[in-house]
Amino acid sequence: MRKTQVVIVGGGPSGLLLSQLLARHGVESLVLEKHTRAHVEGRIRAGLLESGTTELLSEAGVGAKMKREGLVHHGFLLAFAGRTHRIDLQGLAGRSVVVYGQTEIQKDLGDAAGEQVVWEARDVSIQGFEGRQPSVSYTKDGTTRTIACDFIAGCDGYHGVSRASVPPDRIAQYERVYPFGWLGILAEVPPVNDELIYANHPRGFALCSMRSRSRSRYYVQCPLTEKVEDWPDERFWGELKTRLPVDFAERLTTGPSIEKSIAPLRSFIAEPMRFGRLFLAGDAAHIVPPTGAKGLNLAAADVGVLYEGLAEYYRTGSERLLEEYSARALARVWKASRFSWWFTTLMHRIPEKGLDEALASKLQLAELDYLSQSEAASRAVAENYVGLPFAKA
Ligand code: FAD
Ligand code: PHB
Repeated sequence: MRKTQVVIVGGGPSGLLLSQLLARHGVESLVLEKHTRAHVEGRIRAGLLESGTTELLSEAGVGAKMKREGLVHHGFLLAFAGRTHRIDLQGLAGRSVVVYGQTEIQKDLGDAAGEQVVWEARDVSIQGFEGRQPSVSYTKDGTTRTIACDFIAGCDGYHGVSRASVPPDRIAQYERVYPFGWLGILAEVPPVNDELIYANHPRGFALCSMRSRSRSRYYVQCPLTEKVEDWPDERFWGELKTRLPVDFAERLTTGPSIEKSIAPLRSFIAEPMRFGRLFLAGDAAHIVPPTGAKGLNLAAADVGVLYEGLAEYYRTGSERLLEEYSARALARVWKASRFSWWFTTLMHRIPEKGLDEALASKLQLAELDYLSQSEAASRAVAENYVGLPFAKA
């Protein structure tokens, strides 16, 4: 039976980043990804990186293109009641964020990974992680193989096999599915503003983001009952304009969409994140609604803690950091989930039984007005947005 030190299930950003960081510390790993490389690189997802994430990507040796092409943002705008309030990230929290698409990160990591990834590895199953000799089986081109390993990293996202393999009585799961989605489009048009705009509007939330100076990524809140086909480009642009303050709506450049999709919103946390020799990281362990852009950053932060633990184990034989992994990662995961839930609740129209929508909307506007007048409240937003620090090991 073939053997490696760490088998990583899932070749998304968490899996590939972990593999790259381990390689830099002389730890051997194999990534098993069920889809093709082209499919994984084609998924349009996150776009905003905290400085901790950019540092980790650089440490993994894949930061050069990001440093050249990423756009540094020192603040963002909150739009409500026809006006805007700027959150000065640099001034209030002393740090900035970088706009650089997940698709680009995925490509950079894929280029660096080479032979460490088995693309199109089907029917992955994991065994023996409660004992000392775990193994992972998969099928590729009709042949089934089993790999023995010291550890398994479950980086296979929300629908993956890793978390599903844990006996239900060993894991606690917390979940909220929000009663609306985000309709997102990508278009080859210059962004309406050089910083992001998060808009609260009576018709629902809108977000103006970007991927570069010539490519925009825009979102509007939509009912979950609607389909992409219900949203021809003209309807999308009209709705976005309605939800933005007039001066931005007038400046908005529209154009044909090159991608359009609807994403549901969910808060989900599984704990613990370690089960014997199986470690969960990224979306396999937690999902946040995208308001605040924490999903990819949390995944990277988990990987940052996990690789240090594995590297220390192979360097010294000590399991001390690995034993702390779950508690350290979760402490931060809960805080980022809290922020994402709070920001989502502040900015969206929430159609729910038992909730007076007019009352909820008035309370949101009062809070946004307070934020615009209170430096302390704005600083709390800025600190969370740029990413909270880790408790040091
Ligand atoms: P994933 O990216 O989900 O990667 C997991 C990988 O595991 C996938 O490649 C999958 O194919 C593979 N896999 C799954 N099951 C198996 C199996 N059984 N065997 C082998 N491989 C398997 N975050 C933001 O911050 N902003 C956004 O705007 C945003 N938009 C999003 C839109 C969508 C539609 C989704 C799904 C997520 C979005 N996110 C966003 C979240 C962000 O993209 C994720 O947090 C991030 O991708 C997490 O990375 P990951 O590697 O942990 O998981
Ligand atoms: C994005 O650019 O896709 C993006 C940016 C900020 C968010 C969510 C998504 O909060």
